[in-house]
Amino acid sequence: MEATAKYSVERILWIQRWTDKLFSFRLTRQPGFRFIPGQFVRLGLPDGQGSLVWRPYSMVSATYDDYLEFYSIAVPDGQFTSRLARLGVGDEVAVDRSIWGHLTTDRFQDGDHLWMLATGTGLAPFLSILNDAAVWRQYARLVLVHSVRQGAELSYREWLDALPHHPLVGAWAERLHYQPVVTREAWPGALGQRIPELLANGGLEAAIGLPLDTARSRLMVCGNPEMVEDTRRQLQARGLVLAKRGQPGQVAVENSF
Ligand SMILES: Cc1cc2nc3c(=O)[nH]c(=O)nc-3n(C[C@H](O)[C@H](O)[C@H](O)COP(=O)(O)OP(=O)(O)OC[C@H]3O[C@@H](n4cnc5c(N)ncnc54)[C@H](O)[C@@H]3O)c2cc1C
Ligand SMILES: NC(=O)c1ccc[n+]([C@@H]2O[C@H](COP(=O)([O-])OP(=O)(O)OC[C@H]3O[C@@H](n4cnc5c(N)ncnc54)[C@H](OP(=O)(O)O)[C@@H]3O)[C@@H](O)[C@H]2O)c1
Repeated sequence: MEATAKYSVERILWIQRWTDKLFSFRLTRQPGFRFIPGQFVRLGLPDGQGSLVWRPYSMVSATYDDYLEFYSIAVPDGQFTSRLARLGVGDEVAVDRSIWGHLTTDRFQDGDHLWMLATGTGLAPFLSILNDAAVWRQYARLVLVHSVRQGAELSYREWLDALPHHPLVGAWAERLHYQPVVTREAWPGALGQRIPELLANGGLEAAIGLPLDTARSRLMVCGNPEMVEDTRRQLQARGLVLAKRGQPGQVAVENSF
């Protein structure tokens, strides 16, 4: 691949395989590539017919890392991921020079408690947000909920457990409540119902020990599009509304596929 004004060509530096359907990888990063934690970029791979196939991917890594990290599903017949999953260290991936997305904490004007609700690879933008010292400074409590089918899909647990040793997080790590949700098997420490159901029956607030309210709670939701929509509706019923340009609100959402 040849770099153009629209995209750069990067190399895979590192790959971590979590399950047969989930993996993370790091790419080289152009010094001028700037983003806000929570944003996404389009990645491109040759389609075998002389063009590139592009897909949006949320950054996992910190704004200050000298690589770009991503967390990916492998869809068996997927046009993009069936190719991506076969690549190895040293192989090339195109990275669009434009950055997208509004799942960023600057959507909120204030708030004390940041709730991050994810299914599957929707976890990715929240990992970048948790790498941001400003977020830890701003919020008194942070809640990360990760809903997956099987316990083996609870990727990044070791990274989360090690946050007390993160050079920028340290003692702030005690502000985070990480709540796994495993929906298709019993799993130690995990809740077993879907996120919208846990919001409707109060199970999530009870598990975290923190009530949701319009004054203090700010919520970011990312993942399965149906989960995002059902969750948004549940929150709206509680008086929590989408934050839009010129309209203060408590909720920001993004579909992760
Ligand atoms: C804003 C945005 C950010 C995204 N960020 C990520 C990311 O960080 N990591 C990531 O893996 N994907 C992400 N995606 C999805 C990604 O762009 C592709 O859909 C994915 O790489 C699969 O591409 P594909 O061509 O192999 O299959 P596609 O033809 O794109 O998808 C085939 C089917 O697979 C399922 N699917 C696709 N992606 C996912 C997923 N992530 N989780 C569960 N089911 C899925 C859906 O049912 C979809 O219809 C994002 C999508 C959007 C819109
Ligand atoms: N992960 C696997 O083992 C597996 C196996 C075969 C095929 N696939 C395919 O791979 C793709 C992605 O699977 P995935 O497991 O990463 O993503 P997923 O299907 O979005 O599931 C991830 C988590 O989101 C929950 N969820 C799904 N829809 C929801 C909704 N409407 N409201 C609230 N929560 C919801 C799931 O709960 P539920 O468990 O209740 O759905 C699960 O906890 C899918 O297209 C799937 O068909 C995955």
